[in-house]
Amino acid sequence: MIVLGIESSCDETAAAVVRDGTQVLSSVIYSQVPLHQPYGGVVPEIASRSHIEKIRGIIEQALTEAFPESSNPLDEVDAIAATCGPGLAASLLVGWSAAKGLALASGKPLIPVNHMHAHLWSVQLDRASVQPEAVYPQLGLAVSGGHTCFVEATAPNAYRLMGQTIDDAAGEAFDKAAKLLGLGYPGGPVIDRVARTVPMELRRSIAFPQGKVAADHPLPEGLRAELCVSFSGLKTALLTYVRKNPPQSEADTARICVAYQEAIVDAIAKRAEIALRTGRYKTFAVGGGVSLNARLREALQAVADRHRVPLLLAQARYCGDNAAMIAGLASAGGGLTADNPLEWDIDPSLPV
Ligand code: KG4
Ligand code: ZN
Repeated sequence: MIVLGIESSCDETAAAVVRDGTQVLSSVIYSQVPLHQPYGGVVPEIASRSHIEKIRGIIEQALTEAFPESSNPLDEVDAIAATCGPGLAASLLVGWSAAKGLALASGKPLIPVNHMHAHLWSVQLDRASVQPEAVYPQLGLAVSGGHTCFVEATAPNAYRLMGQTIDDAAGEAFDKAAKLLGLGYPGGPVIDRVARTVPMELRRSIAFPQGKVAADHPLPEGLRAELCVSFSGLKTALLTYVRKNPPQSEADTARICVAYQEAIVDAIAKRAEIALRTGRYKTFAVGGGVSLNARLREALQAVADRHRVPLLLAQARYCGDNAAMIAGLASAGGGLTADNPLEWDIDPSLPV
């Protein structure tokens, strides 16, 4: 099955064509980062306007790159998939409406996809075909600018949320810290880079909180407090620390970055440890922009090795938002089931 995928949930306009879940025929991503950089974060109105301007060209490029010989490349695909949530409403609307229009005009099936499921599927892209019995049950961790969640997957279309952040997402924690330290946007890559300059023994020279969620904290049904995390206290602790000890040099800033990053990495790795210890999983998949973080990769690899569960990480180009993960998941049968998807609307807070 060959699927055209469209993604526009946040600040990337993306389209891709994927065959049978894993073979990426094309993947085009237009990143709006430079547009949002002056504001230190994503501005929804700017994001949606830019999606509108770019989406058509991006879809056409993905189709022609996938089928350079074809005079009507849309004819070559079996279905059209798009993210219908979660994400920014005005951004989601652009990609979802484009997909609806193409589906209506071409008569091809429309497949709604949950963005979080797709992040977990991203680890399979460009790999050999997936043998479900070797992959599932799977522990999934999606870490991005908008989400931090632990999920149990038993099939490409079967997910159960076990834990999540109760306030800021991990990427948001990185971005807010970088803003506070004057390091620019997005913060994760800069902090990752700056932190690498600090020697091992200085990694924990500042103690930051690790985001424990009290066992009696009220949580939605089915969530386990031990697999939930809170990053807002970390941000406050950073602010307090910087007010009392304003960094005097690049070395001071680097020392703060590394300790802050360590706190986020430890918080996530500890919960991964609990999830792997208390469940039986064949694989551990980690997706989302923050999964590019070198220290996080190292820490999660160590946890996975201890539990002898293979760690599946996405290729760097599929860690951030992209449409190959949308088309890939849909062509593997992981889209959301809908009687009449043309009547579906976007859902900015679509649950896992
Ligand atoms: O998945 P993504 O591209 O978009 C969302 O769905 O949010 O993730 C973007 C997030 C940003 O917060 C960015 O700071 C973070 O991923 N990020 C990183 C790294 N690269 C990107 N965080 C930590 N270390 C990195 N190397
Ligand atoms: Zn994402």
